[in-house]
Amino acid sequence: MLRTSTFLTRFIKHSPSHYKRFGVVALRVHSMARHFKILGKEDLAPSVKRLVALAPLIAEKAQAGQFVVLRVDEKGERFPLTLVDWDRDKGTVTLIFQEVGVSTRKLGKLEVGDCIKDIVGPLGIPTGIENLGHVVVIGGGVGAALIYPWVRALKKRGNHVVTILGARTAELLLLEQELRELSDELHISTDDGSSGIKGFTSDILMNLLGKGRKFDLVMAAGPVPMMRAVAEATRPHRMKTIVSLNPIMVDGTGMCGGCRVAVGSEIKFACVDGPEFDAHQVDFKELMNRLRTYQEEEARATQLLDS
Ligand code: FES
Repeated sequence: MLRTSTFLTRFIKHSPSHYKRFGVVALRVHSMARHFKILGKEDLAPSVKRLVALAPLIAEKAQAGQFVVLRVDEKGERFPLTLVDWDRDKGTVTLIFQEVGVSTRKLGKLEVGDCIKDIVGPLGIPTGIENLGHVVVIGGGVGAALIYPWVRALKKRGNHVVTILGARTAELLLLEQELRELSDELHISTDDGSSGIKGFTSDILMNLLGKGRKFDLVMAAGPVPMMRAVAEATRPHRMKTIVSLNPIMVDGTGMCGGCRVAVGSEIKFACVDGPEFDAHQVDFKELMNRLRTYQEEEARATQLLDS
């Protein structure tokens, strides 16, 4: 892993034309940290923050469903974050993240006026948003940040959008107001019943399906067990279901293999083949196992940060 990171640190310094040799399309590399100045910072929930950063070339190309890979400082690891929003006129991008490990905690410590070392993007295949009719969009936890651009783009194309938003508790519900304003219907679930129904987003979905509601597309983003539950809820109805996967990523360009996922009989790289895939084809068990790969190292790194 260390060796891979060292190699990628060198790799990432090459010019954009270098990346094109590897078939990476629409990749912009910005090596001057001043481009990534933080212009806005806000607490959305305990441990969850929203940052607005200057990244004009990324803002110019960003589309719903895409992400960036960033590095907080010179020695930092690379990690992906969804492009939640962007302003092409101001040249800014909006990122939402939960402080769950060393890198996200370091990112959370940056203040307005500080710079993020590197941001690479936009990466990933944009969501193919069409006018389909009735669409259900489901976001759990920080997955709410990911569904926001979906819902906005779906509404723009004239779809009827039913949004299901879930979290452990009411105070952890993200972007409720923004999603309420965009959606035709908003349903909420919390594990403890402090807002909406007591239960899971998949319970609400099953309830809607049980009432005979028909949807042309179901889209989900959030914790892996939630996405798997959504896939199992729609499978008997043969309803097209898309999930946005969140595997470990390092380079984001299809080089390291970190984001490998099994989809049907094929092996895919989420960073260049996704991150969205047919939920009925994804091997969620393998995805969960791979997400645990560096648990011990992460715990040790967190201990070091706290010591
Ligand atoms: Fe390295 Fe996808 S993040 S191959």
